[in-house]
Formats: sequence, structure tokens, C-alpha cells
Amino acid sequence: MMSNSIFDLTGKIALVTGGAGHLGSAFSEILAANGATVVIASPNLEKSQAFALKLGPKHEAMKLDLDDSAAIGATMDQIVKCHGALDVLVNNGYSGPAPSIDKATPEDFDKTLHRGLTSYFVASQQASFHMRKRGSGSIINIASMYGLVASYPEVYVGSTVNSPPNYHALKGGLIHLTRHLAVYWACHGIRVNAISPGPFPPKRVLESPGGREFIERLSQKVPLKRMGEPREVQGALLLLASEAGSFITGQNIVVDGGWTAW
Ligand SMILES: NC(=O)c1ccc[n+]([C@@H]2O[C@H](COP(=O)([O-])OP(=O)(O)OC[C@H]3O[C@@H](n4cnc5c(N)ncnc54)[C@H](O)[C@@H]3O)[C@@H](O)[C@H]2O)c1
Repeated sequence: MMSNSIFDLTGKIALVTGGAGHLGSAFSEILAANGATVVIASPNLEKSQAFALKLGPKHEAMKLDLDDSAAIGATMDQIVKCHGALDVLVNNGYSGPAPSIDKATPEDFDKTLHRGLTSYFVASQQASFHMRKRGSGSIINIASMYGLVASYPEVYVGSTVNSPPNYHALKGGLIHLTRHLAVYWACHGIRVNAISPGPFPPKRVLESPGGREFIERLSQKVPLKRMGEPREVQGALLLLASEAGSFITGQNIVVDGGWTAW
């Protein structure tokens, strides 16, 4: 039976890059729970396959390294060939160097920007070629609060975690690229939005040397006085992916416990 919920994604095909990671798995879960068929794409096929299987039999995984621009278009083509459409693209996959300001090199910037900005553009562009044929689609770029505000240097002292300059440049650029794509593709019925998560550290950060103290310092900067749980970004993602967000485009939804409100 079809649901009449404005959040229903039954029959929709969604691609989530890095969709088995810390936040990516929450994105994949909420899309699947609301009826979408989810394709998880990442370099780690085994992990993605295991996670897709956990979501249910209709979901699948594909191997994709975002550094390989040519493979991005081929992945989209294959999804459309197998499933007949691509309705939702979540540009989420990322990993990269995290150097300090003193040690950051041009190569660090090149790598970061290629993986987290150029590749998100290529994925959006290639997805748009399919979406515009049907006159609809939703593209969601996972940015960061650090694309909006600078970090507090003192919070990172004594921690193994860094707040690297290349990451700030990347996420700021991604939020603005989102606006640009949104206005160009609105005429094709394609919506393009960003989500900027605040602090959602995975368990390995808490368990790292100085991790607990770092999380305590970070929590003091959050009006809600705690870190986010991956399930807490699911609502924003579902809103943007579904009919519930049909008049929202070119926006950046910040899910940060109030960090940027101060
Ligand atoms: N966790 C946070 O606190 C936080 C805060 C703000 C923004 N974000 C953003 O959320 C997104 C997900 O982060 P996360 O915390 O879940 O990290 P994560 O490391 O748990 O997951 C990242 C995923 O990206 C995939 N990936 C890595 N390199 C890739 C490549 N070359 N090609 C394709 N996929 C690749 C990995 O396989 C992994 O599944 C990132 O864009 C990150 O910048 C995270």
C-alpha cells in the first residue's frame, strides 16, 4: 500500500557516497526506512555490502573512489541502467589529510579539494544529466559547521584531533557551490541543498589520547552542551530528500546543537 506521507520515498532510488560510515550509515538508514532503494558507494566494497545487506535485500553497494572522476559518471550510468532512475544523491563520502596550519602543503589542499569539492561537483553534474531527463531530483551535499564559522583553536590543544585549514576551505566552498548549482538546475526540477553537521565525533575520537577532555571542551561550545548522535541528522536529510522539502533549494540546514548561534 502506498503511503500518503510527504516524507515517503517509495520507488525512489538514492545514492549515498560513503553511505556506510559514521553519518553516512544514518543517512542510508533513514532513506531506506522511508521506502527508497539505497545504493551505497565507497572504496570499501566489503563494508558497504555488509551494511547494504543489513538495510534489506533491495539495497546494494558499489565500489567507487571519488578520486576517480571518470568512475563517478560510470557509477551513475550503471545505477540508472539497473534501477531506471536516480532520484536522490547524497554527496557525503570524505577522508583526507588533516595537517596543522604550519604543516599544510599545497598537496594537502589539492587532495582535499579534489575529493570533497571537485568530486562532489562531478557527482552532482553527472546525476543532474539523468535527473533533468525526468524533471526532478534532490542533491544533498554534506558540508559542515566549519564551512560557516572558524573553529576555537584552544579546544584542539592537547588532542590528536585537528581542525585543518584545508577542511575549512573545502566546506566553505561546498556550501557556496550548493547555492550556485541550485539556481542553475532549478529549471530542471532539481533541488540542491547542503546539510552542515556540527560536532558528531565517532567513538574513536573519544577513545583517542586526550579524547575525553577534548570532547568536554568541545561540548562547552555547544549550547546544548553535548555532541550530536548520527540519528539527529536524519530528519534534515529526509526533509531535503522527500516531497516535504519540495520548495527548499539552495539552502544549508545547520544541525549543530546551536554551535553557530553564538
Ligand atoms: N562526523 C562529524 O562530526 C562531521 C561533522 C561535520 C561534517 N561531517 C561530514 O560528514 C561526512 C561523513 O563524515 P563521517 O563523520 O561519517 O566520516 P566517516 O569517516 O565515518 O565516513 C566517511 C565515509 O566516506 C567514505 N570515503 C572515504 N574516502 C572516500 C573516497 N575517496 N571515495 C568515496 N568514499 C570515500 C568512507 O568509506 C566512509 O564510509 C563528511 O563529508 C564529513 O566531512 C562530519
